Amino acid sequence: MEIKKVGVAGCGLMGHGIAQVSAEAGYEVVVTELNQENLDKGIAKIEKQLGRAVEKGKLEQSEADAIRGRINPTLHPHEFAECDLVIEAITEDLEMKLDFWKQVDEVAKPEAFFATNTSSLPVINQAAATSRPDRFLGLHFFNPVQRMPLLEVIQSVTTSPEAMAVGMAYGEKLNKTTVETRDKAGFIVNRLLVPYMLDGIRGLEEGIGSIEEIDTAMKAGAGHPMGPLALSDFVGLDTLASIGNVMFDEFRERRFAAPPTLRKLVAAGFYGVKSGRGFYDYSGEKPVPVNPGL
Ligand code: CAA
Repeated sequence: MEIKKVGVAGCGLMGHGIAQVSAEAGYEVVVTELNQENLDKGIAKIEKQLGRAVEKGKLEQSEADAIRGRINPTLHPHEFAECDLVIEAITEDLEMKLDFWKQVDEVAKPEAFFATNTSSLPVINQAAATSRPDRFLGLHFFNPVQRMPLLEVIQSVTTSPEAMAVGMAYGEKLNKTTVETRDKAGFIVNRLLVPYMLDGIRGLEEGIGSIEEIDTAMKAGAGHPMGPLALSDFVGLDTLASIGNVMFDEFRERRFAAPPTLRKLVAAGFYGVKSGRGFYDYSGEKPVPVNPGL
């Protein structure tokens, strides 16, 4: 089945990027949020990025207008009725996701495919709660979606070969590097990346270096674009903690457990870049490391 219209639930950090790259690839896009403020914020980010691409000469104004024109922002999930593929990028909370799918399952056409952008929750738990577990798969994007080439295409125990083929074809149309993976918490990238970020935080707790020293060392010593603490802030400390918790519950291994410093920062509402403070303070021109008071 050819996908023409894509629904994206959530216009936050991941959702706005998924909506943008889908529209750039030529799909008609319906994007929803829980409230107008969040929707406006997400759409403003897309418009800003399209504007910047025009300024840099990477896009004609007419192309940017056409991309924006393909995105229909709405607060009403019933607008997913005509979508061929609906991707959820809402809060990483299974109950919220199950509520969402219940609503969408009722309005979406029977032949539509569903996908979750979950970072770590098992795909099968969502798939099994819908009337179409065979047409349900995982499509895991990376932040920033516009920039990171990878799309993990996840096969749960019920996902049909047809649904996997749809996911792979969608990723290829987006010009992403697609990798098929199985429904195991963390899939490939987070299975390896999350313990690494958590170890960066443990290293800070154990005094191997300061925030800046740890990040500088990993950039200069291992060629990473960001050190583990800056990357944790970038991913979102609340998201990192919640992925770690899911993986710890699944595997019962210390390497996935959220270290105390991470839990304290999350409790304080210091979620990283998105809240303006995490391991760094983002209120000035340049991020400044803030001692988390170990
Ligand atoms: N949103 C959209 N585009 C962005 C962006 C953002 N937040 N940040 C940067 N970009 C774009 C810029 O517009 C620019 O585009 P052009 O080349 O077209 O002009 C390009 O990226 C490079 O930007 P900069 O020169 O400003 O920045 P940089 O070279 O320092 O790169 C970075 C920034 C791409 C974020 C880089 O630091 C990087 O790759 N960091 C690692 C990111 C990473 O590991 N992501 C995965 C996180 S894990 C995850 O997402 C999975 C999960 O489930 C938690």
